[in-house]
Amino acid sequence: PAPRASATIHGDRPGPVMQRQVFGQFAEHLGHGIYDGIWVGERSSIPNDRGYRRDVLEALRAIKVPMVRWPGGCFADEYHWRDGIGPRAKRPVKINTNWGGVNEDNAFGTDEFMGFVERLGAEAYVSANVGSAPPAETAQWLEYMTSPNGSTLAKERAANGHPAPYKVQYVGIGNELWGCGGNMRAEYAADLTNRYAQFAKSGGGKMLKIASGPSDANYGWTETMMRLTGKNIDGLALHYYTRPRDKEWNDKGAALGFPVREWASTMAHTLQMEEFITKHSAIMDKYDPAKRVMLAVDEWGTWYDPAPGSNPGFLVQQNSVRDAVVAGLNLNIFARHADRVKMAAIAQMVNVLQAMLLTDGPRMVKTPTYWVFDLYKPWQDATVLPIDVQSPWYHQDEVAVPAISVSAVRDRAGQVHVALVNLDPSRAIPLSVALNGVTASTVSGRVLTGATMDAHNSFEQPDAVKPQPFTAAALSGNTLSATIPPMAVVVLELR
Ligand code: AHR
Repeated sequence: PAPRASATIHGDRPGPVMQRQVFGQFAEHLGHGIYDGIWVGERSSIPNDRGYRRDVLEALRAIKVPMVRWPGGCFADEYHWRDGIGPRAKRPVKINTNWGGVNEDNAFGTDEFMGFVERLGAEAYVSANVGSAPPAETAQWLEYMTSPNGSTLAKERAANGHPAPYKVQYVGIGNELWGCGGNMRAEYAADLTNRYAQFAKSGGGKMLKIASGPSDANYGWTETMMRLTGKNIDGLALHYYTRPRDKEWNDKGAALGFPVREWASTMAHTLQMEEFITKHSAIMDKYDPAKRVMLAVDEWGTWYDPAPGSNPGFLVQQNSVRDAVVAGLNLNIFARHADRVKMAAIAQMVNVLQAMLLTDGPRMVKTPTYWVFDLYKPWQDATVLPIDVQSPWYHQDEVAVPAISVSAVRDRAGQVHVALVNLDPSRAIPLSVALNGVTASTVSGRVLTGATMDAHNSFEQPDAVKPQPFTAAALSGNTLSATIPPMAVVVLELR
């Protein structure tokens, strides 16, 4: 008999709000993430709004991108903001030493980034250079962006076309200070964080300071940072990238055409996010029981071998149903930890790693991951409902993981939305959900899946993987039943 899953949604015990900023995105000066992907310049033949691609703006607006993190990543700790302001023809050309050693002409700088987030209606998260610039550089950058009229830097901003101050909602105090941000010990990073945070001031509006946090299971880093800087910061960043668990960093496996063994080990690897968040949060609870300091998962997503024929420094990879399932699993994990995870950024937005969008000259495709972010729009600023799940196991080679992952929210209009992810690539799983404290009489929804494990959208077939209406769900009294197809993300709305 087909294995069955069951769950109970506790609508009568509403949990925390899942902040929309959890659906944030990361855009680094890396490969074609910014140049060609977002910015083509005003004189491009690609349709653009003052230099920003119109197709990309429109696609990103449609999924309500709430926040964008920029300019890195590793790039941030070598970035000098003054290189990217003023007349473009006069901006210096630098080498992007982290990503392919290519020329960086600084055509996309602070004013262009702010114009981008303004066009998206998103918040700005800027990462300050702690690794290779003094604190005064951060202070002056923030003054340029946020100070009201009067100061010389505010006048310079006005001369560059923006008299009104910009809003900076988040500032990152360096990036991966344990690695590309300066190879620091946690104690040294904590001291620097205290120093830079002291001089990182907003000229107006609330600005949250995010410290460079741990990667994966580096609990010692979290312990030291929370002990030494916890009172001076508003968030600690967590970075965790997904790859097949049985592969290594120098051989991560291909984004397409992978064996089922790699499907399974990718799922097992991504599910470790739950353990990492739980354990880092427990350490944070010791120092910050009121949960004032957020865990900001500001780099997450899949990282495979670069696409054949691409520049390996550009981190180009296709995006398939496997990535869509990974996205759904992670968003469900973030929902379960909405009390501590109040912001996140998938890596990255366009053309890099687990991207929303891929571009090629004038062409653009929406990836399966894009469609997951579209399906989860109702989760933005909605109240998380606690859930108990009993799932059958998915076994493959040495992997054994629960096949079904569920999250549910109540939006501000009172509607309940349920996300159901089946990571088993070959078995459909029937599921019944007891609804406590949820009144609804109809159910409708959409499903995202594909014909194969690596089904994806190419420039030739841009709509191969796209949400379809889901009709295999029914409501009877307080029970919701549905059969979740293999390797699928289903999102239901109860009315
Ligand atoms: O997202 C690519 C890189 O991964 C970022 O620049 C860095 O922070 C991380 O190691």
